[in-house]
Amino acid sequence: MERLVVANWKMNGSIKLVQEFHSLQNNPKTTTIICPPSCYLPLLKPSSFKLGAQNCHQAEKGAFTGEVSPAHLKELGCQYVIVGHSERRTLFQENDSLINQKAAQAIEHGMIPIVCVGETYLERQEGRFKQALLAQMDRALHNLDSQKYVIAYEPIWSIGTGLVPTNKDIEEVLEMIHARLGRSAKIIYGGSVTDKNILTLSQISNLDGVLVGGASLNIKTFQTIIDAF
Ligand code: 13P
Repeated sequence: MERLVVANWKMNGSIKLVQEFHSLQNNPKTTTIICPPSCYLPLLKPSSFKLGAQNCHQAEKGAFTGEVSPAHLKELGCQYVIVGHSERRTLFQENDSLINQKAAQAIEHGMIPIVCVGETYLERQEGRFKQALLAQMDRALHNLDSQKYVIAYEPIWSIGTGLVPTNKDIEEVLEMIHARLGRSAKIIYGGSVTDKNILTLSQISNLDGVLVGGASLNIKTFQTIIDAF
């Protein structure tokens, strides 16, 4: 099974970092996807990795000042686009219905949306996380072909905190998602993935890869994560 290793630079990075990443080495067991801020997309020359975006607008074009359309991303060589990241949901008020439209547009334009879902700390503590995840998935993936997207399971309490669920906890969620969407649905994990915990996470047999935030901003650390598979 080929694993996906996705770098989400968020609103970080620089031209210098873009240049450094040109020496990233491929691991034949993985597909590496770099998602930089969209202004850097034309500067990244995909060789050992593929290109992805961190967001897209739900329309093909039009009077939407400041937005980037799926058609633009496709033209710049993006094969993947992250949609519904919890930061977009929380800071930019994106809901599942909008995320569903974005994912559908990405597919329409020949890209693979990486659709993020994840529970809050409270939902996990109160044992409501399964219902919360299923509700997000049912709405955000409505009418989409499960062969055409990747799910990123990113517990909100794990993003940028250093807190990582146990492998057993992640396996339980994978099991639930597979039961809902079918065995062939691709699911990756995100939330405080580092060069220190990647060996443990890579033991999860039916995990299709990882989505890496902070640790993807350093080529050495990120290379270690790629090489762990
Ligand atoms: P961190 O790896 O920095 O916790 O971020 C995870 C994330 O949000 C990736 O999309």
